[in-house]
Amino acid sequence: MEVLISAAEIQHRVCDLGKQIARDHPDRSPLLVGVLNGCILFIADLMKAIPIPHEIDFVSVSSYRLGKESTRAPRLLKDLEKEIVGRDVILVEDIVDSGHTLAFLRESLLARGPRRLRIATLLDKPSRREREVPLDYVGFTVPDRFVVGYGLDFAERFRHLPYVAALSETEIESETSGRKAGSL
Ligand code: IMP
Ligand code: MG
Repeated sequence: MEVLISAAEIQHRVCDLGKQIARDHPDRSPLLVGVLNGCILFIADLMKAIPIPHEIDFVSVSSYRLGKESTRAPRLLKDLEKEIVGRDVILVEDIVDSGHTLAFLRESLLARGPRRLRIATLLDKPSRREREVPLDYVGFTVPDRFVVGYGLDFAERFRHLPYVAALSETEIESETSGRKAGSL
């Protein structure tokens, strides 16, 4: 596993993003909408870095990705609990890859009439984009590698790592065959 972004680098960048979000919302408390499960470490640190009142809510989108590859039809598995009409909403994602998940969420939430909908993502992997989505707050741009850690998983593993690392093809293959062997 190759560490791409250290824990210290992540903490510094998340602090900057928090300050930027506070500056962009001087008189209204924004609603952060985390996309489960990948957002959890990012949203927790981001909240601590936003020095103005704000609220949180969560959505969950069908995990169409068992391992590395994705299919293309996101569905809402868990909806918001709060109303967002007239509110300043910030979607909080772990990574934007093909863009399908966020394009789908953006359309679903915009249909409910928020005053403003912005997007914050810890990581951006632009090389694989298939749907364009406007990103307002980006932590880091990553190359076309499969990354794990700081909320991101590979088949539910590695989420807890405090840094972001790239898995090698060999690691991906051995994880995948390990899973198959384990499920027999
Ligand atoms: P998209 O719909 O292709 O943009 O992918 C979005 C989701 O796929 C993200 O929210 C992640 O949960 C997952 N994903 C995409 N790339 C990676 C990766 O490199 N590592 C782990 N999860 C990823
Ligand atoms: Mg995600």
